[in-house]
Amino acid sequence: MISACILVKGAVMLSSFWKQNKGVKNSGLASLLLILLSITGCSVKQPHQAAIASAHPLATQAGFEILRQGGNVYDAAVAISAALAVVEPSGSGLGGGGFWLLHREYDNLDIMIDGREKAPLAAHKNMFLDTKGNANKQLSLNGVLAAGIPGMPAGLVHLSEKYGKLPLATSLQPAIRYAEQGFAIDTRHQKLLGFRKNILNQHPETAAIFLAQGEIPDKDSLLQQRDLAQTLKHMAKHGKQGFYAGSVADKLVAAVQQDNGIWTLDDLLNYQVVERKPMTGSYKNIKITSAALPSSGGIVLLEALNILENIDLGAVNNITRKHLISEAMRRAYHDRALYLGDTDYVDVPVDRLINKYYAQGLSSSIRVDKALPNEYLTGHTPEKQGGRNTTHFSIIDNEGNRVAATLSINFPFGAGLVASGTGVLLNNEMDDFVSAKNSGNGYGLVGGDANAIAPEKRMLSSMTPTFLENSGRIAVLGTPGGSRIISMVLLATLDFTAGNSPESWVKVKRFHHQYIPDQILYEKGGLSTREVEGLQALGHQLKQTYNYGNMQAVQLDKNNGSLSAASDQRGEGQASVQQIHK
Ligand code: GLY
Repeated sequence: MISACILVKGAVMLSSFWKQNKGVKNSGLASLLLILLSITGCSVKQPHQAAIASAHPLATQAGFEILRQGGNVYDAAVAISAALAVVEPSGSGLGGGGFWLLHREYDNLDIMIDGREKAPLAAHKNMFLDTKGNANKQLSLNGVLAAGIPGMPAGLVHLSEKYGKLPLATSLQPAIRYAEQGFAIDTRHQKLLGFRKNILNQHPETAAIFLAQGEIPDKDSLLQQRDLAQTLKHMAKHGKQGFYAGSVADKLVAAVQQDNGIWTLDDLLNYQVVERKPMTGSYKNIKITSAALPSSGGIVLLEALNILENIDLGAVNNITRKHLISEAMRRAYHDRALYLGDTDYVDVPVDRLINKYYAQGLSSSIRVDKALPNEYLTGHTPEKQGGRNTTHFSIIDNEGNRVAATLSINFPFGAGLVASGTGVLLNNEMDDFVSAKNSGNGYGLVGGDANAIAPEKRMLSSMTPTFLENSGRIAVLGTPGGSRIISMVLLATLDFTAGNSPESWVKVKRFHHQYIPDQILYEKGGLSTREVEGLQALGHQLKQTYNYGNMQAVQLDKNNGSLSAASDQRGEGQASVQQIHK
């Protein structure tokens, strides 16, 4: 029986390969072979349950709706991504980009779809410098120059066509409905509008969509986005061309050029997603699969965990534990600043940075009784506030097929303007490049030439969609939060290691060190007074900030097949486990 299973599984893989290379959906051969697998009693069967956690209840529901229509987790991921673009416009959107980390169980495929925005062809290294050579943050954060060429629409089309079972038009339906019929805005949406109200008000068409006579609309008032519904319908009908060519592309370019922006139709036509091999590594007995460059997320996460593997965190008191974790973060973020950028443009010593011996060397520079001042590492010192940007969702079915996706338009409501007639909010992801030496981006992150602006280059990201796996459990997780995304995923990974549940990972009290500024940032309630004093006594600077992050996590228990899901209580998302097929 076992060899029969292997034979049939092999045939399914071949058939899938054939389907992918021919671009054919619902191959009859694949379906026939899947039926054969179930007749022969092999372990591949129709998933009957799934867990979804996302930043908005309507996005979670869109995922289940598509699963019930016979979609797989990748179709559901398309539906959730598109729904979030409509119902959480502060965090992500068709005008932005993101990373979808996929695992397909039957052929054990792990892949990252890189839909990160790209710099326009006319972009150049000094485009955000003022006459004195200083970075002009107004230009890189607000308005058309701040916007990279969107990758989200291409990512959705790729995900659907290569990995989905249903037509793109089906998977986009919930999002189109939400955009057309509208939805009730929540308190979080109101709060994020407050953060960007002045910028939105500079653009009358944008203000007309999101504000009420220039003010924040009441809670539960209806937000309808009819132009956005039309743009989604164009994509449903014409696929990638429905966004990157034709009338939508014309309107996008016209809107950008009208504000003296630099997008051209060629920028849109040239945009391609890239499939990348995810970063993989281990921490103790856990396999970690996470984002590859142009996201720094996977490398910084693995480097910090490799450093911590040399330290017995269980043998020290709470204050020392947090000190040691902060010191690991400091070193990993320091390497982020020194080395990381888009590997299509620069050489990055990735193998060295995630090497266990390299981490051992770094860990030996950590003193248990003292914080290491940054001067000993080399660096410079700008300081900026963090943002409340981006979104994440996690999905897994009971077969183990899964997607972790972190999607962004960068700061809340991106560049703050909608391209006229499209409903598409432009991103301000260009700010994630290094605009000037010694100047941090909107999150205070510094960097070097590796992350300098160049035409068609992808800006360095911190988004960290991640899978964790040990002998008993598989976790799928991630969060928004700018530079703090990686440290949040790190703390959740340590909590997974301690045997805790998704409910616990998303609740972990957060603290963060990103090398520059040289301080431990902690959320309200993240550290006790005793811990703050203890860390100060070790030589750390500390700063309290608001509660941050919005982690969405799901888990499969491999021993009994049970699923669980959790949505961060700091947000207003929904986590749910539901029956799909009997
Ligand atoms: N937009 C935030 C990031 O990509 O890191």
